[in-house]
Amino acid sequence: MISKCLFPVAGYGTRFLPATKAMPKEMMPIVNKPLIQYGVQEAMDAGMRQIAFVTGRSKRAIEDHFDRTYELEEQISGTKAEENLLEIRQLMQSCTFSYTRQVQMKGLGDAIRTGETLIGDQPFGVILADDLCIGEGKPVLSQMVEIFAKYQCSIVAVEEVPREETEKYGIISGKQLEEGLFIVESMIEKPPAHESPSNHAIIGRYILTPDIFDNLRNLPPGRNGEIQITDALNVQAKKKMVIGYQFKGRRFDCGSLEGFVAATNYFFTQMKPDPPINR
Ligand code: G1P
Repeated sequence: MISKCLFPVAGYGTRFLPATKAMPKEMMPIVNKPLIQYGVQEAMDAGMRQIAFVTGRSKRAIEDHFDRTYELEEQISGTKAEENLLEIRQLMQSCTFSYTRQVQMKGLGDAIRTGETLIGDQPFGVILADDLCIGEGKPVLSQMVEIFAKYQCSIVAVEEVPREETEKYGIISGKQLEEGLFIVESMIEKPPAHESPSNHAIIGRYILTPDIFDNLRNLPPGRNGEIQITDALNVQAKKKMVIGYQFKGRRFDCGSLEGFVAATNYFFTQMKPDPPINR
């Protein structure tokens, strides 16, 4: 039903310098898989097999990751090491990948607007790969696809955060529609705690209807002088309907060192219930 998923991946990842000096932050591995691969897997699981990247200079490693690596693959062909490529090969067989570049870093809203050329006139998913999500029962984007099937409007995933952290997120306020679903009345980008209308923070999963592109085009710069997707969604919420969905599962903020390490520990434990340390 929704076939495309957009990945804004042009950002610099300054919090991880010097690791991200010459390497895209999305290629940082959580155990043995780059962050971006977890996101693409989630999109594919939600039925979105047309993967669209809004990329930038020095991000070529992402394109290479979703392509054949002839020399290496020939070298390890028939060996045990080949098993490590099973998942990425499955993604490559199931999905198509397209790319466009964001020329200037003018905010998440600008990145998404840049992606219009790859998305066209249809509803689409957005994954911010920094937010690594473990869905309960099913992946978070798949949960959101089910809600979209019912309400046919833009949806943002939300999570309750401590009050003192509201200024790191877009924050929604709204009326409860059903359990875990809110009709958004307003949303505001990164408000300080004392100005925040709630502690329901938007995390990096969105389903957007294509009229968002018109809203983005007509938008003045917002918080930090950037074009904010939150502001464009606010316009949509006023004109029609936007839903905030309190997703079932857990999120790791892999844009922060703490979240990155927590995710690494989590996935390592999942992989090897009894990890052989120093063997
Ligand atoms: C972006 C959005 C923000 C959202 C966050 C989720 O901010 O602008 O509304 O809460 O992603 O991760 P960023 O983290 O890119 O500053």
